[in-house]
Amino acid sequence: MKFQILSLLEENEFISGEKIAEKLNVSRSAVWKNINKLKEDGYKIKSSTKKGYCLIKGQFPYNKYEILKNLKTELIAKEMFFYADIDSTNEEVKRLCGNGATSKICVVAENQTQGKGRLGRIWSSQKGEGIYFSICLVPNIALMKAPIITLVIGMAVCRAINKHLDIHTQIKWPNDIIFNDKKICGILTEINTEINKINYIICGVGVNVNITEFPEEIRHKATSLKIETGKMIDRTALICCILKEIEHYYNLFLLDGVDSFIEDYKKECINIGKQCLATFNGEKINGTVCDIDDNGNIVLKKENGERINIFSGEVTLRRKDGSYI
Ligand code: BTN
Repeated sequence: MKFQILSLLEENEFISGEKIAEKLNVSRSAVWKNINKLKEDGYKIKSSTKKGYCLIKGQFPYNKYEILKNLKTELIAKEMFFYADIDSTNEEVKRLCGNGATSKICVVAENQTQGKGRLGRIWSSQKGEGIYFSICLVPNIALMKAPIITLVIGMAVCRAINKHLDIHTQIKWPNDIIFNDKKICGILTEINTEINKINYIICGVGVNVNITEFPEEIRHKATSLKIETGKMIDRTALICCILKEIEHYYNLFLLDGVDSFIEDYKKECINIGKQCLATFNGEKINGTVCDIDDNGNIVLKKENGERINIFSGEVTLRRKDGSYI
């Protein structure tokens, strides 16, 4: 009932409690209780004894209702689950896929108690300040092409942030989003397969949006959009923009394969032409990144001239001051 009342408030400049009660066939006290719930959720509602209730326009809270209202995708994220607290949005997608995986499933959370990063790391989530979501994708592609989805998502998130905020973030292979030499967003792609078939892919995205302070141990390598732009970012508008761009690049990839976006990806890939340190099969290799191949692997030219194609692991980038990100 809360959101039915909200929709009536959106349609009318002022509406009386009596009118709402009549339209929804509920008691005046139920209306009053739900108006209070909406206020607790963060909506600003003014009441006047003569004219009734009025929703103050401006910044609305970050919730499922607002995201779905602003979302312009055809399919992606149309089945949305929003949690105040969850262990990990990737894990929740996996649980939901037990009842049937579709490319509509999306889990968004305000806070993750066991957020997961790449390579078994922890991803810490700060309540009310970040964007943490996971989507399910069910692509009909060969298993060996699955890693490319990781690049598709990185490309989409990078473009969405750049378009929305008019800044220039870049991608650190495979899909960290970097701004001013620090990480602004991480992406974790997981896959559920059968012998030679993809059942579904889970793409989890964590964006440092309005975070103002990071723990000491990651301060040198992590930043947020708020820190870098000096502005509070509307998370609803940004997540909608990211989801729309994911749908765009995902559809391009399904239609025309890797060629549809790889040149754009290479333009935004911060590693190309740079000295990197790769950890591959437990071995540390120094070299210069010279390309990304058609399977999404990074091509590293070793100091002895030999080229190797790296498909997994960590590739850190040497900064001007000699440190690595
Ligand atoms: C990384 O950079 O190591 C990847 C971080 C991915 C974090 C996101 S937040 C939403 C989703 N749920 C998780 O548990 N992890 C991803």
